[in-house]
Amino acid sequence: TSNQMWGGRFASGPAAIMEAINASIGFDKKLYAQDISGSLAHSEMLAETGIISADDQAKIAHGLNTILKEIEGGKFSFSTQLEDIHMNIEARLAELIGPAAGRLHTARSRNDQVAVDLRLWVKDELARVAEALKGLIAAFLERAEEHAATVMPGFTHMQAAQPVTFGHHCMAYVEMFARDLSRVRDAMARMDESPLGAAALAGTSFPIDRHMTARALGFREPTRNSLDSVSDRDFALEFLSISAISATHLSRLAEEIVIWSTPQFGFVRLSDSFSTGSSIMPQKKNPDAAELVRGKTGRVNGHLVGLLTLMKGLPLTYSKDMQEDKEAVFDTAETLDLMLAAMTGMVRDLTVNEAAMKKAAGAGYSTATDLADWLVRTLGLPFREAHHVTGRAVALAESRKVGLEKLALEELQSIHPGITDNIFSVLSVQNSVKSRTSFGGTAPSEVRKQVRAWKKRLAKA
Ligand code: ARG
Repeated sequence: TSNQMWGGRFASGPAAIMEAINASIGFDKKLYAQDISGSLAHSEMLAETGIISADDQAKIAHGLNTILKEIEGGKFSFSTQLEDIHMNIEARLAELIGPAAGRLHTARSRNDQVAVDLRLWVKDELARVAEALKGLIAAFLERAEEHAATVMPGFTHMQAAQPVTFGHHCMAYVEMFARDLSRVRDAMARMDESPLGAAALAGTSFPIDRHMTARALGFREPTRNSLDSVSDRDFALEFLSISAISATHLSRLAEEIVIWSTPQFGFVRLSDSFSTGSSIMPQKKNPDAAELVRGKTGRVNGHLVGLLTLMKGLPLTYSKDMQEDKEAVFDTAETLDLMLAAMTGMVRDLTVNEAAMKKAAGAGYSTATDLADWLVRTLGLPFREAHHVTGRAVALAESRKVGLEKLALEELQSIHPGITDNIFSVLSVQNSVKSRTSFGGTAPSEVRKQVRAWKKRLAKA
């Protein structure tokens, strides 16, 4: 039998394979609430503008609310024959209220319908992501405050570089996740325009009021070009790219947690709730949650590339290719929500091993720069010469297999006669971090300043 929506032109129904490739109901049923809100707003506007009767609108609204309850109560039977969420709902509406259901689709197309549904869905998801990011940032601010003066090695090339504080390291992630949050806010403002009323692509001859539906659905205003309205998916691309960037931040953190929690580093211990054991090796405590955050980043990044690739060859306006946007968006949302929640839990729960961090902070001649700076400051050496003198001190310490602070004053003076006892004060890791008071530097006093500023800023973010 031919399709009940467009059967007029068709003599027979689709081949089974056609139905299988065409149907999106398996995943776009997630849009049911947005689809019903969109239809309610549209029907109210149709009645308000006199395009349909108040009586028909009342029937439509009643039917749509019944369908909402059916779906939420698990009593709705979805059909692949009806292709997608839009036609599933409309067909059920016809069963419930009869011919009035056929008036709902006046001055509307599935093209603007799906565009408005997905925008509403992405807007909601971005609001969730914003809250989750704020939770993660808050967790980091707590840890940063607690560990503003806990020294650890700072790395470049994964080699110990200069001592920093764990609080400062936490605040680096605060900066990253706060930028993610601001990207979320920017994107939300940009997608705050309703495409509903663009109809198939050209607009409509019915006297619709697009400002009214935009307002009813919580959009700032309607979109300004009907062709763009039905073919734009850059709101989805922005969601995917924000997600990919944020996932990449989460993944770097996850990688650090994996490294830090090895017995070789021993900087942090994960709580039992965020680690697993081994079925064969009784001694193991594995950072599975961190590894999964790192691993899931691959698919989040993949979805961005997938949708970019899908869109890049599409002429205006709608093509069915675009139906493929949804799984990328839905899977990214589900994955990112989980990653943010797991990472927030890990950050909150992890135990910091201050002794191990401090020990590692002093290893690898990490205060060599402090020694060089002392030579510049106290003896007036040009930095390049100070660098050279310090290099010889490091070589000497290395040959003696001791730290810089363990060299005798006479040994240091044999490298440069101007060196005095006073130099030892800058060779401790504690003093090294304390001295880095430049704006944004690692000194505990600076870290505490940044924590205070971010706490205030976050309250308003
Ligand atoms: N299920 C479709 C999608 O997700 C809805 C729009 C269908 N429009 C069309 N002209 N076939 O993109």
